[in-house]
Amino acid sequence: MATTTKAVTKAVFPVAGLGTRFLPATKASPKEMLNVVDKPLIQYAVEEAIAAGITQMIFVTGRSKRAIEDHFDKAYELEAELEAKNKHALLEILRSVKPSHVDCVYVRQPEALGLGHAVLCAEKLVRDEPFAIILADDLLDGQPPVLKQMLDVHEREQGSVLAVEKIDPARSSSYGIISGAEVSKGIYRLDGIVEKPQPQDAPSDLAVVGRYVLSSNIFDHIRNLKPGAGGEIQLTDAIASLLKEEPVFGYEYEGVRYDCGSKLGYLKASVEFALRHPEVGAGFAQYLKDRHLG
Ligand code: G1P
Repeated sequence: MATTTKAVTKAVFPVAGLGTRFLPATKASPKEMLNVVDKPLIQYAVEEAIAAGITQMIFVTGRSKRAIEDHFDKAYELEAELEAKNKHALLEILRSVKPSHVDCVYVRQPEALGLGHAVLCAEKLVRDEPFAIILADDLLDGQPPVLKQMLDVHEREQGSVLAVEKIDPARSSSYGIISGAEVSKGIYRLDGIVEKPQPQDAPSDLAVVGRYVLSSNIFDHIRNLKPGAGGEIQLTDAIASLLKEEPVFGYEYEGVRYDCGSKLGYLKASVEFALRHPEVGAGFAQYLKDRHLG
């Protein structure tokens, strides 16, 4: 089949949320800068995008987000110091945060009016290309990385793609929930999507997790929205409108999700990533064993 989709080279990272669930840790520092072992959540997200071939990272920022800009900036003094001390391995770690073929750009969301509104703030940078959205607090561990899996589906199916996962129906009011027919294994053509329905109103048990590959037509649909759930401009409502005009697919990705927007999910991610960490993994496993935890 001939493909007509343009290559996806841009990813939008909405990082303007307040992160109130992690206060006081997030009082002066964004939740996306919370570390899992030795890397902030936002870096895991950017690495996933790079592994999927994305070269332009667009961060939609708000108050107290300087740390994210600094993280992806060149750290001249630190590099000079490490170089002077011949600490090449550390220098390598530092420089690999932003490979030279990757661009980071920042746009400010003046008010936290919802995820849809945050995405609309990136319109001038995305323009008329299909693009990815990554919510960094959903840490997805997949091989190949989940965004890469989604771009393959995007190219094959020629439509927008949302990552979905089967959830306990009792938890539907925390997610966007899709409905649609399964067109091939794990791929659903959407005929509806609702934001945070109560369990009795949920159209299925398939929840959207924080990865999207969307057609740029989404911007027109966001612009025409009225505030939805929680009084916010919801991306989900714009997708509900988009799918009436063009195909949108839900894709049950292969991998494990850690909901690092919750303390429990964040702790689970920390344990799992610590256990496989080359430097501390063995020692940490031994510690858990000694404490009769592992
Ligand atoms: C957002 C979306 C929701 C989606 C979720 C995935 O909600 O609005 O549709 O299911 O991300 O993490 P939030 O978690 O920001 O409230």
